[in-house]
Amino acid sequence: MKWRNKVVLITGASSGIGEATAYELAERGALPVLVARRADELKRVAAEIATRFPGVQTVCIAADITRDADRRRIQEQLEKEFGRLDVLINNAGITAHGRFDESDPTVLRQALELNFFAAAELTGLLLPLLQYSRDERRAIALVSTPSGLYGVPGRFAYSASKAAGHAWMETLRCELHDDGIDAVIFCPGYTRTGLRTSGLAADGRRLSEEQSKHARDPEWMAGRLRRALEKGGRRVVLTGFQGSLVYWLRTLAPGLLEWLMRKKLKGDMKKTL
Ligand SMILES: NC(=O)c1ccc[n+]([C@@H]2O[C@H](COP(=O)([O-])OP(=O)(O)OC[C@H]3O[C@@H](n4cnc5c(N)ncnc54)[C@H](OP(=O)(O)O)[C@@H]3O)[C@@H](O)[C@H]2O)c1
Repeated sequence: MKWRNKVVLITGASSGIGEATAYELAERGALPVLVARRADELKRVAAEIATRFPGVQTVCIAADITRDADRRRIQEQLEKEFGRLDVLINNAGITAHGRFDESDPTVLRQALELNFFAAAELTGLLLPLLQYSRDERRAIALVSTPSGLYGVPGRFAYSASKAAGHAWMETLRCELHDDGIDAVIFCPGYTRTGLRTSGLAADGRRLSEEQSKHARDPEWMAGRLRRALEKGGRRVVLTGFQGSLVYWLRTLAPGLLEWLMRKKLKGDMKKTL
């Protein structure tokens, strides 16, 4: 995949994996369109791109992708600026921690609203621009999580919202095959970002959790995402041991997987099932 002059829209580009992906692709000459709610953070990312990669044109669109009017504004601005889209990276997301029987019902709704509905509805609006592009390698990526491969206890809303995305992306891969548009499900392992303080706790308030000891840097993860897009064609792209373990155990030894999950729940929440 040649990145030079590819128009790449990244949601959630104001921090974490989305921000690192913008640098990763700008370095290769792509034209990043940065989407997130915090306009000041988007400007900071665009300024960093201008300093590090002079000549790269960056467009910032401050938008809340859960709002229909904002999604339409993104589509209109993209149409005005470029008239096409080559790669769409649905990366914006929140995590949600908590058992089902202890969680406020709004948590599930909020997780699905951003992680699934917003991504699907934005993609629906932008699809004609992807189909219109004559670029020979076009793709839609969903930045998901290994928690979308199997319902993780203590993460039911996060798992459900990402698993819905997997089913939708699998559908897209077949439906868009003849248009030459790839659909990549990218499941990063733990990454050092703001996810554990931007997500939701069971009572619907903001999470405040420590980073995992095993977390990778977002820059490393962005490199893996770029390579996944370049390779294309694979069903689910995993980046670490935990994700691969879940992937294989769910088919080969689901009983063992559930036993491990119950152990994890006990460790996580200091509760017995
Ligand atoms: N970090 C990990 O360990 C990990 C592991 C597996 C998967 N992931 C996935 O990676 C993706 C990126 O997360 P991250 O780890 O990089 O966390 P992050 O730093 O919190 O990034 C989340 C991004 O989403 C944006 N966002 C949130 N709500 C939005 C909305 N309504 N409209 C538009 N943008 C919105 C945020 O920007 P604003 O606040 O400016 O809107 C931010 O740029 C997520 O989908 C997450 O599920 C992360």
